[in-house]
Amino acid sequence: MPLMALGYLSGSWLGALSVCRLAGVGDPRRAGSGNPGFSNVLRLHGRRLALATLLVDAVKGMPVLWLALWLGLPPWAQGLVGLAVLLGHSFPLWHRLRGGKAVASAFGVMLVLTPGVALACAALWALLAWRVRTAAVASLASAGVAPLASLWLAPDHVAVVTAFTALVLVRHLFNIRRLRRGDEPGL
Ligand code: G3P
Repeated sequence: MPLMALGYLSGSWLGALSVCRLAGVGDPRRAGSGNPGFSNVLRLHGRRLALATLLVDAVKGMPVLWLALWLGLPPWAQGLVGLAVLLGHSFPLWHRLRGGKAVASAFGVMLVLTPGVALACAALWALLAWRVRTAAVASLASAGVAPLASLWLAPDHVAVVTAFTALVLVRHLFNIRRLRRGDEPGL
């Protein structure tokens, strides 16, 4: 479906790379956790660049999702467009399929498709990041809660939100290993 291709292409724009390049700082893939995402940019370059990264990654999929809504696509098709955005972020064609962990982009996609779930997950992420000081714990917990929250807040999108969760979990396998070893970096 053309909108899925558009979703994939827009998802492939990695906010962390553009922001770090514009700011003239190092490539986040070569330092810290190596993840081109909000948390690694926060650790490496501070709040300003991290927030800019979050903003790009969260909004990049929105135009194509708004288009999907405007065209009146059914929930499952909207969800596939959202999933394409996340796949673009995690496996971007022009970065040799090496992208990010899809947390900020999932937040942006859900903000359009399931705003209540997005806001609940963001609140949980912020709370855990503040209390536990570990981004991966906050991301994994929020991803785990998302399908449950969608059962209640967005029943039409449970399947797709579950797919988002599965992708985020798979992208955090290294973090899970590090958490078990006790050497996951803090925020
Ligand atoms: O949002 C990504 C986060 O959950 C983990 O990133 O850089 O700590 O591996 P990082």
